[in-house]
Amino acid sequence: MKEINLVTKIAVYPLAECSEIEKKLIEAAKEATKKAYAPYSGFKVGAAVLLENGEIISGNNQENAAYPSGLCAERTTVFFANATYPDQKIEAIAVAAWHKDRFTNEVITPCGGCRQVLLETENRFNAPMKILMYGNEAVYMLESAKDLLPLSFGDEMLK
Ligand code: THU
Repeated sequence: MKEINLVTKIAVYPLAECSEIEKKLIEAAKEATKKAYAPYSGFKVGAAVLLENGEIISGNNQENAAYPSGLCAERTTVFFANATYPDQKIEAIAVAAWHKDRFTNEVITPCGGCRQVLLETENRFNAPMKILMYGNEAVYMLESAKDLLPLSFGDEMLK
């Protein structure tokens, strides 16, 4: 038997130490939580993506009485950005969540389905996407969606 150990490097920052553009992206994600449609969970998630041309696009979770028909903030935002600007690379995404009258202290981390979509977007543009996960206590930063999804399934397997 042999063992494979996978290592993920997570940069942990206080918000104050983030760059200006990272702060702007996080602020856009936080702002987007205000427009989330989350009457069932009360968990309002906001996401914001930075396009190659410098534009920031934000979105949020959209729930549904038929629960599985809803969509997370990350996918709502990435799909809208890709649908509107199909040729613009997404350089970074920030995510924040508002729950019980405050932003979460812990960082908000994308669900499995969103991780797969973030990875597809990276592969589509052949460029890594920085992932910024906001919590009141810290910001977690990953250099690539691949770090969110070890042993992932991607387009290269279909070749
Ligand atoms: N949610 C997101 O929008 N993004 C995440 O990363 C985790 C979960 C949403 C889905 C649902 O509307 C609510 O949060 C509670 O799970």
